[in-house]
Amino acid sequence: MALVELLADNVQTVLIVLLALLIAYYIFGGGASALPPSLQGWPLIGNMLQVKKDMAEYAMDLSKKLSSDIVSLKIGSSTMVFFNSYNMIKEAFAGDEFMARPDIFFKTALTKGNGVLVSDGQMWKNQRRFALTVLRDFGMGKMMMDENIREELVYVVDDIRRQNGKAYDVERIVNVAVANVMCQTALGRRYDYDDAAFIDLQNRFEENVTITGVSSPIHHFKFLQNLPIEPWAAKILRRNYAHVREFLMKVVEEHKKTFDGSDIKDVIDAYLSEIEKNKDKPDTTFTDDQLNWMIYDMFIAGSETTATSLRWALLYMIHYPDVQAKVQAELDEVIGRERAPCARDRTSLPYTDAVINEILRITSFLPLALPHSNMEKDVHFRGYTIPKGAYVFGNLLAVHRDPKLWKSPDKFDPDNFIDENGKLCNQQHMGAFSVGRRACLGEGLARMEMFLFFTRLLQVFSFKNPDGVPLPPFTRTSGLVVKPKVHYKVCAIERE
Ligand code: HEM
Repeated sequence: MALVELLADNVQTVLIVLLALLIAYYIFGGGASALPPSLQGWPLIGNMLQVKKDMAEYAMDLSKKLSSDIVSLKIGSSTMVFFNSYNMIKEAFAGDEFMARPDIFFKTALTKGNGVLVSDGQMWKNQRRFALTVLRDFGMGKMMMDENIREELVYVVDDIRRQNGKAYDVERIVNVAVANVMCQTALGRRYDYDDAAFIDLQNRFEENVTITGVSSPIHHFKFLQNLPIEPWAAKILRRNYAHVREFLMKVVEEHKKTFDGSDIKDVIDAYLSEIEKNKDKPDTTFTDDQLNWMIYDMFIAGSETTATSLRWALLYMIHYPDVQAKVQAELDEVIGRERAPCARDRTSLPYTDAVINEILRITSFLPLALPHSNMEKDVHFRGYTIPKGAYVFGNLLAVHRDPKLWKSPDKFDPDNFIDENGKLCNQQHMGAFSVGRRACLGEGLARMEMFLFFTRLLQVFSFKNPDGVPLPPFTRTSGLVVKPKVHYKVCAIERE
């Protein structure tokens, strides 16, 4: 009681002491001198008011301003470290130190470290190894996947043809077609484009990706995650996942009824076989529950990304009709119009391949990849201390804008990937799929899909901006997967 009275009598003194403590923290930064270079932030909120929505661009500019490839920022209780050069990312992500995922909200509120996308340790190793093997076995680069994608393209071409050259938003068709490729691979079946349950499923995936952007305060002010009222974002994440899970469980049950270990047709079958093989191991990570997370992760990581790459590709084609015409000339010369392109044509089409790489580079639509972390201990890297649990980002946007690596870093120019002999070059610096042991495990599938969709669409149609309408701008959304902000329309004119 006496203490309370004492404090009440000395409110002014208490406030001055608190202020002095905050200023001391502000000046001395709580021992932050060993952190990579940064800007002075504010107590408690750190650099939150300085960071722009596009965190990758902000970190890239900060790296130039501070003349350091490694920079750091603080937001709330989180330390964020950004590697802004290709060599630095390669070095940092080659070993084990930054292999974990930090405690992002998606992980703490939803997956609890399950699956492959945000899991760590032995769980991650087992699930990643399985996913890589299964994608390779189903023809990442081989015939089966090639055929699935080409079959899907028959429906896509029909759908676009039916528009008869009218102004048309291709987003819907691209999204459903790409999701269907994943359905074929994972579930062994495709869905009609107007199937309500299928469309609903995709909307839920898209909503969950949107919620998980890393600049949201929910990741960095942990008290927001522990309020008596559950944050709305957690409710949405969980509600969407429950719905997807129910949908997948029905598909898994159907698979179980017809399962034949000697005839593995899709990812579910392959996973059921893995569960069977490991069933007597007490510490197995292959369970029905993990099967659900595996499929969920493949959809969330593989659909939105590939569909976004194609939406960007068509936007660039209507802005650069000369590049579009050059791709079509190469397709006419090498493949002709009689047969649809297939995966093995890629090596004979260097200009087309360069255009696809250039779209990935200039758009850098996963600009910070996914966050990595050192969850176990502080790590000393290039003379700095990176505190345990930091958010560690490979800044892919900075790599893709580096004037030391590219002829024209800031403009769309397929020659960034073409050498003086017309051959494909510079692919070693293409960072769109990230680098190291945590790099995208679906790169082969994604590249095959991009190549087959892009070439088939340009073989059959010429895409142009509708007459009398200004060209849609290249403005970008913010978030984990950066998309064209405008829902633009194109006219797809069937080629003579
Ligand atoms: C153009 C399309 C795609 C792009 C640009 C892309 C890019 C990326 C990037 C940048 C990462 C983060 C790597 C890191 O943490 O350093 C990633 C992770 C991942 N991607 Fe992709 N991706 C694409 C398509 C796909 C597809 C089709 C799949 C299909 C299965 C897929 C599955 C995954 C998975 C499971 C991870 C997490 C890997 C792990 O944590 O070990 N991605 N992707």
